[in-house]
Amino acid sequence: MSRINDQIKAQLKAKNAVLVAHYYVDGALQDLAEASGGIVSDSLEMARFGQNCEADIIVVAGVKFMGETAKILSPEKTVLVLDAGATCSLDQDCPIDAFSKFCDQHSDRVVVVYANTSAAVKARADWVVTSGSALNVVKHLKDQGKKILWAPDKHLGNYVQQQTHADMLIWQGSCIVHERFKADALANLKKHHPQAAVLVHPESPQSVVDLADVVGSTTALINAVKNRKEQTFIIATDNGIFHKMRAVAPHKTLIEAPTAGQGADCESCAHCEWMAMNTLENCLSTLTTGNNEIKIDAFINQKAKKSIQKLLDFTA
Ligand code: 13P
Ligand code: SF4
Repeated sequence: MSRINDQIKAQLKAKNAVLVAHYYVDGALQDLAEASGGIVSDSLEMARFGQNCEADIIVVAGVKFMGETAKILSPEKTVLVLDAGATCSLDQDCPIDAFSKFCDQHSDRVVVVYANTSAAVKARADWVVTSGSALNVVKHLKDQGKKILWAPDKHLGNYVQQQTHADMLIWQGSCIVHERFKADALANLKKHHPQAAVLVHPESPQSVVDLADVVGSTTALINAVKNRKEQTFIIATDNGIFHKMRAVAPHKTLIEAPTAGQGADCESCAHCEWMAMNTLENCLSTLTTGNNEIKIDAFINQKAKKSIQKLLDFTA
């Protein structure tokens, strides 16, 4: 165990703090989160864990919306993120003023937003969903005869619409990481590995999702590597996830889905620049200084909590 790991563990203990990490961050942070009594998980379980834990301080290794979700659910706790600049293109693509206007123009629709949004957008929504829960929530609303306004991820929205046949009006945001995957190059790679299963996160373009054997959240894709009988997997999501996949299935072969092809700037570069801002060094400095605290207006917090709580109750 390195010196910096020991220092972080000591700080966590002294401050009654817990480290909650996403599968896309540096493997050293993922390991430390687990070894220190925290968790590494998808965005839904990160939120649930933060709410249920006894700690006074939640340290989130991930991106801003994950820190905000933790704060919304536990306003009485202090929530710190490792780098205040670590955002998400989906969050950036959905500014509250334009979004609120869009909602006002379609007031006959139930507003369902992806967790990858600001606290203000969540507060404007009726429901918050994650990639692991979107299908079931939308099916449930469709069964109640509801029409849906979906934001911000157009690819996830299109996928959910195709699967559920719900009436969905879709905001046109996207994830800059998953949008890089190229269907032509993936189809070619598949020809070279005919026995491989293709695992795809639903933030990817439709043409890539169409080639998938499994479409699902980060947790669903890790479980697929662990539980499916294939020995080789081609994986279309942020390559930070390989750390956990290798840990749960050390003898299986994992191949990155290509980002090469027409319009590409690299062959295999699916790594979120904002997730990459999380390091052991800024984990230690955040804990030591208490910098990068998430603050949310109390009224927005209260409204956003209702829409997230609906999801947690629905998926309990
Ligand atoms: P998950 O909810 O599947 O962990 O996804 C979060 C995310 O940001 C994917 O890009
Ligand atoms: Fe946002 Fe995409 Fe990064 Fe996930 S991988 S945090 S959706 S930019």
